[in-house]
Amino acid sequence: MIQTEDLEFSPRVISPEDSAEDREIEGSLRPQTLHEYIGQDKVKENLAIYIEAAKRRGEPLDHVLLYGPPGLGKTTLSAIIAHEMGVNLRITTGPAIEKPGDLVSLLTSLSENDVLFIDEIHRLSRAVEEILYPALEDRVIDIIIGKGPSARSIRMDLKPFTLIGATTRAGQLSSPLRDRFGVIQRLELYSKEQLTDIVRRSSMILGIPCTADGASEIAGRARGTPRIANRLLKRVRDFADVMGNGEITQQIASIALSRLEIDELGLDSLDRRMLEMIINGYGGGPVGLETLASAIGEESVTLEDVCEPFLMQLGFLGRTPRGRCATKLAYEHLGIKKDDDALADDGQLSL
Ligand code: ADE
Repeated sequence: MIQTEDLEFSPRVISPEDSAEDREIEGSLRPQTLHEYIGQDKVKENLAIYIEAAKRRGEPLDHVLLYGPPGLGKTTLSAIIAHEMGVNLRITTGPAIEKPGDLVSLLTSLSENDVLFIDEIHRLSRAVEEILYPALEDRVIDIIIGKGPSARSIRMDLKPFTLIGATTRAGQLSSPLRDRFGVIQRLELYSKEQLTDIVRRSSMILGIPCTADGASEIAGRARGTPRIANRLLKRVRDFADVMGNGEITQQIASIALSRLEIDELGLDSLDRRMLEMIINGYGGGPVGLETLASAIGEESVTLEDVCEPFLMQLGFLGRTPRGRCATKLAYEHLGIKKDDDALADDGQLSL
């Protein structure tokens, strides 16, 4: 059984959060083996060794923590790990495990060496986390029976299992929880070449004719994220069907993506609003994240998890102890003239 929390539909075409439509297409596009999985080479190489070693010893894989920006394939990797280990996968999310009892029933229903995947593991409550510690360390859970002075604790053994935790915010994980993962891997944003390969693979699976240039155009605007690349592929296909002969070419992709307000570097209107607010509202920064978020009417976690990793990768945003700054490159990209030369390339004030 797969248990997932209902996730809200996000109207942003470029949002890396997943929607029901994504889950449907991702299901068919999801690679089944490490060999089919494109990118994250270091993570794949390490996992291949850990999986092989665990299989040879007939043991479960050690507990794994995957962290990094949303949409990079943490769920996909967990499904691959379970597939390569030849075991079942149970999927849930931190907020869906409301009470300690929910976790107890999940853990006790696992078969030997199964994988339990908890997305957004940083959102587990304290009480639930405490059940997890002995489960991870000694494969036992302590269940409290009764209430008040007559309450007793019963220790229950669990079958060997692997927990895969995923989070966009490793920093928010408590250290006792983080310390119980034997394997900790960071997923990186994908290169344009890797995303081009992913778009070509997806278009073949979905039967969408797509030229090499067309795939590369979509990849270049997918902000390093396969989930966004696959979603853009579907939207661009609509334009190709209506405006062309169904084939995705570079020209059709470029027209479609501009209509979706995604510029040639993959920035969407929220990225631009964030940078414009720093520049026009706060003289280029520094400005605190919360101030910035309320100024543009967006949640600070969205800016921090979604916009910032990408804008920083492009070198458009600097983080300083006093807040966020727009860099010279950001001014240039937005075509805004800087009043003075006080900003250095890294966004630090060089007064
Ligand atoms: N589809 C989404 N992510 C993928 C990846 N990393 N490799 C292959 N296909 C994918």
